[in-house]
Amino acid sequence: MEFKGRQVIHASRETVWAALNNPAVLEQCIDGCESFTAVNDSEWQVVVRASVGPVKARFKGSLSVQDREPLRGYRLRGQGEGGMAGFGEMTAVVTLEDEGPDTLLVYAAQAHVGGKLAQIGSRLVGSVGARMADRFFARFNEVLTEGGGEHARLQPAAVAASAGAQPGGSHEQANVELTVNGMPVRRHVDDRTLLVDLLRRELHLTGTHVGCDTSQCGACTVRLDGVAVKSCTVLAVQASGGEVVTIEGLADGEGMHPLQKAFMACHGLQCGFCTPGMIMASDGLLRSGRHIDHGSICTALEGNICRCTGYINIVRAVEQAATEMGLPCSARADAEETR
Ligand code: FES
Ligand code: FES
Repeated sequence: MEFKGRQVIHASRETVWAALNNPAVLEQCIDGCESFTAVNDSEWQVVVRASVGPVKARFKGSLSVQDREPLRGYRLRGQGEGGMAGFGEMTAVVTLEDEGPDTLLVYAAQAHVGGKLAQIGSRLVGSVGARMADRFFARFNEVLTEGGGEHARLQPAAVAASAGAQPGGSHEQANVELTVNGMPVRRHVDDRTLLVDLLRRELHLTGTHVGCDTSQCGACTVRLDGVAVKSCTVLAVQASGGEVVTIEGLADGEGMHPLQKAFMACHGLQCGFCTPGMIMASDGLLRSGRHIDHGSICTALEGNICRCTGYINIVRAVEQAATEMGLPCSARADAEETR
């Protein structure tokens, strides 16, 4: 299958080039994108949820940039696996040219699919691919131009970071320096940036979830200077100078943290959306020096919402982890609804 297209992007070639190399911008533009993580400057890991006719699947794959010619274009190679749905591979050549004050972006892509996707037929797969490309460029334009709502709101920091530019000197910018999962991090951000947005959008630590944005659900919980906090209630500048641990940094190398093992062993999760927050909030309790019992666990987790499990196995998991870690713990044998 082949896809070809030309798009006029209402931004300068420098801005378009910076955005094309910025995972935070690309993540916003890909329809159904769940995560977009930079492995290095030229390789990205991507998870996309897509529907092609009757086939709905979560595709995990990688994209690598080759033949990069700054401001002129690059070749993009990608492959993805969708389990039972099948797999896909694609190569795309993207080139940029000036078009007055705007930029003309031309792309030519070739794709191959296998498994169930191949059985659906190339016509349907081709039309879904073309629609995804249309949506991608519509959003891309929106991100890079004024008046694009949420996307435009995110654009200045993301594009500036990718371009290596120093964002404009108003009172709205701030330097943030902190340690995240043992690594020193330094960013120049809008001073209204939330810690959760710094973690997810700038550092691509997408294990920290956003479930509500109103401080209700606890999915965004991380450890800040040894204490569990909801990272959607903390400004990045407030965390500056601090030490942050996210769910990605909890394990000790290859070995899982006792809480992670216990959540698995006790079936303390179903869909898993709340799990990073639950584990980080539990970590806060286990580190607090408090006696661990049913009551203290329920109190520690009262700011975390789970829509699947009914909480019983979550409480059991925390008890089991505390026991395994040799912490003072009175585990209840009986199962009782915690809410
Ligand atoms: S996203 Fe922070 S509490 Fe829900
Ligand atoms: S496991 Fe689904 S929300 Fe908790």
